Amino acid sequence: MKIIEVSDYKQMSVKASQHVIAKIRNSDCLTLGLATGGTPKGLYGELIEDHHVNGTSYKCVNTFNLDEYIGLSKEDPNSYYQYMCSNLFSHIDIPLSQTHIPSGMADDAAEECRRYENMIEDAGGIDLQILGIGENGHIGFNEPGTSFQSATHIVDLTESTREANARYFESLDEVPRQAITMGISSIMKSREILLLVSGESKREAMQKLMENDVTENFPASILKKHPKVTIIADSAALDLKR
Ligand code: F6R
Repeated sequence: MKIIEVSDYKQMSVKASQHVIAKIRNSDCLTLGLATGGTPKGLYGELIEDHHVNGTSYKCVNTFNLDEYIGLSKEDPNSYYQYMCSNLFSHIDIPLSQTHIPSGMADDAAEECRRYENMIEDAGGIDLQILGIGENGHIGFNEPGTSFQSATHIVDLTESTREANARYFESLDEVPRQAITMGISSIMKSREILLLVSGESKREAMQKLMENDVTENFPASILKKHPKVTIIADSAALDLKR
């Protein structure tokens, strides 16, 4: 794992955007894995600005998001579909048909998981996966204890994850209890991974990631086994003992 330390959230976002833009510009057709949450918002903002200023085009980019809440429709303001539209897709020239997010409203969620996993495979896999990390080490919605062999699957969200995400909802009660997430094996199949980490609240997770062994109790630890991971972390997340 290559770790790049940057000063703050803005610099993390800029550095990450440079990485993503270079990848897009250097490939004919790129498949990106995308994350939601607070961490990548700055990156998406930088991509939008670059699209407007420098004209980087997304006409040949395909995207697959990591996860979606079960029970939220595409129209729900808290769905990850809406998040992606308002934070990225509506502001760049990507055809919506080339963007993919698991459906949280599928009649058969298990079937939706299989369909999603197959779609990623049929698209030739993910070239570059963007990840954030949960305070408990989750990646996607793969909570501690998730099998490293897992493909896209249904998860019961832990209380700590629901509480962390409650800031986007009116109340904790409204936060869905389940989600569909790419599994650890789906994520590990990506050819390259870019993990973004910012802020003091991620310091402990960052420390565990760097110091602990690979264990299903800390899902992000599997990244140590991936041949091409870059972590861009700001000093608040890395400031271990200062
Ligand atoms: C989001 C996702 C999650 C987040 C993680 C960190 O699609 O898969 O794993 O990356 O919960 O969230 P933030 O960035 O809000 O701290």
